[in-house]
Amino acid sequence: MTYTELLEQARKNMDGYCLACPECNGAACKNKIPGPGGKGTGGVFRRNFEKLQEIKINLDTLYDGEPTDTSVELFGRTFRYPVFAAPIGAMKLHYGHLHDDLSYNAELVEGCCSAGIAAFTGDGIDPQVYGGALESIRNAGGVGIPTVKPWDVGLMKEKIRMAEAAGAIAVATDVDASGLALLKNVPTPVSPKTVTELGEVVASTRLPVVVKGIMTVRGALKALEAGAYGIVVSNHGGRVLDQTPATVEVLPEIAQAVQGRMKIFIDGGIRTGLDVFKVLALGADAALIGRPFVTAVYGGGAAGAVLYAEKVGGELAETMAMAGANRLSDIGRDMVWL
Ligand SMILES: Cc1cc2nc3c(=O)[nH]c(=O)nc-3n(C[C@H](O)[C@H](O)[C@H](O)COP(=O)(O)O)c2cc1C
Repeated sequence: MTYTELLEQARKNMDGYCLACPECNGAACKNKIPGPGGKGTGGVFRRNFEKLQEIKINLDTLYDGEPTDTSVELFGRTFRYPVFAAPIGAMKLHYGHLHDDLSYNAELVEGCCSAGIAAFTGDGIDPQVYGGALESIRNAGGVGIPTVKPWDVGLMKEKIRMAEAAGAIAVATDVDASGLALLKNVPTPVSPKTVTELGEVVASTRLPVVVKGIMTVRGALKALEAGAYGIVVSNHGGRVLDQTPATVEVLPEIAQAVQGRMKIFIDGGIRTGLDVFKVLALGADAALIGRPFVTAVYGGGAAGAVLYAEKVGGELAETMAMAGANRLSDIGRDMVWL
């Protein structure tokens, strides 16, 4: 299957919710929620994508070239590429009939693991969503990162214990989900967390904890103070607040403030290996990709996720070779043009 064939198949399988555009840039789906769009005007989804496209790559092939190594060490293990699938939830609501969260996560986790990377999975009001994701991660030998919503601290700790029991390599929490209207009027509502509360969650587990949904230096330093293993610089793909900056716009200042004291992941509009190269040059350790992995799974199941991961990984390797980087640690700020 080629990537074009994958997109064609996905288009047929997504009931018109997503058009599986060759360039997943938020233009066609804009503010379509339910659906894959962004909140309000949908401008943040588009801005994430557009600001990345404004960054250019400096071509330089006058260097001591060796075979390109795209591997990265994270969570105490080696991944083939610095690329992860982002957590996506409520599949039927946003993408139509083909998958529910359980079957989507099963295909995604398996595909990512086979490609030598890993998937973050989502959480939901229905306990089966999180339980099903953990089952998929268990089946993949623990290679997956379950994401817990910012429920009350007791429930977060309980869900993290379940992740430990499933053998997950790490756990994440999408703290920005405290802005999701759908999760406000439920028996166990989500809410913002203080540094003390977040610290209590982090201290409750031996697993590395990744805090997803950080958009400021202030937020990053709070996550650091709470003991997080890492953060995801993320605005939830533009789905929790309209009019935020693009993630890549705030990345350099956050990376400068963090100074390597915790890992920095980033998502939002990252589509190709060239985009991954750009965010690494600006201080990220790895990238998460959201919507295109959905398209890949709807178009080709686990094999579709492998195809897409290898496409992105291949583009990253090619970009590194053309910019003078043999390994990820060679990628520096001077390799991109702003
Ligand atoms: C339909 C949809 C559902 C999502 N559900 C979740 C979720 O359950 N948990 C979460 O942390 N993020 C969720 N996200 C946000 C993604 O994890 C990620 O931050 C975002 O999609 C990255 O941007 P990209 O899709 O442009 O790559 C969702 C995004 C979309 C489009």
